[in-house]
Amino acid sequence: MVELTLPANSTVKEGKTFKAEGAKNTKNFKVYRYNPDTGENPRLDTFEVDLDTCGPMVLDALIKIKNEIDPTLAFRRSCREGVCGSCAFNIDGTNTLACTQAIDEIKGDVKVYPLPHMPVIKDLVPDLNVPYAQYRSIEPWLQADTQPPTTERLQSPEEREKLDGLWECILCFCCQTSCPSYWWNGDRYLGPAVLLQAYRWIADSRDEATGKRLDDLDDPYRLFRCHTIMNCTNTCPKGLNPGKAIAEIKKALVQRQ
Ligand code: SF4
Ligand code: SF4
Ligand code: FES
Repeated sequence: MVELTLPANSTVKEGKTFKAEGAKNTKNFKVYRYNPDTGENPRLDTFEVDLDTCGPMVLDALIKIKNEIDPTLAFRRSCREGVCGSCAFNIDGTNTLACTQAIDEIKGDVKVYPLPHMPVIKDLVPDLNVPYAQYRSIEPWLQADTQPPTTERLQSPEEREKLDGLWECILCFCCQTSCPSYWWNGDRYLGPAVLLQAYRWIADSRDEATGKRLDDLDDPYRLFRCHTIMNCTNTCPKGLNPGKAIAEIKKALVQRQ
């Protein structure tokens, strides 16, 4: 029988505890910490946060921890209103955006880990070079050989409607990193976020490269590693449906045969 063991340095150890002295209304945030420069195992630090002096969202707590307790905590964030996609973490067991996740919706301690199954650069910062390279590979821009009009390329309201549910994607990669097929074949399978983006251009009536785009996706790994498990759709913090976009690509491939 095959015996599977994790490397010793992958075990997450109990870390430091920081108390909020004198605070009456507190919540514990258990935050994944990892610094490749130290050679030490990852650890889970516990920060007791005074909720009476903290904003309502998990991102508010992380910013408070960084500003007031431990400035070495590393994480990405920018817009604070769910549009930039940078504050995606695994929070309370689900991939989501820290800036739109209310603290009071989480029972007990708030556990914050980086997006799963990605290499970690430091603390909550995953290495996203591979999914960004995959995004580049689908050529996410309008391609048209016909002479451009003197004004913009027009669409009917019905044609424009086909982009709804696609253009809203903020590339947070919550879906990508919740997909078991991407965990095991992330080097060759494009994953739900990238495939939803690919479909965004296939569905665009102004784009004239549909045939080439479908040719590029017609591959047992790039597209067909999706097994319709639908973790991606269940986790999307913007309420989008990457599983459906993938199904639409498969349908377009069948229809053109
Ligand atoms: S539906 Fe496809 S892309 Fe979505 S989680 Fe399942 S296998 Fe991954
Ligand atoms: S489809 Fe949703 S979860 Fe996936 S990258 Fe786009 S916004 Fe994020
Ligand atoms: S900070 Fe931009 S989506 Fe959360």
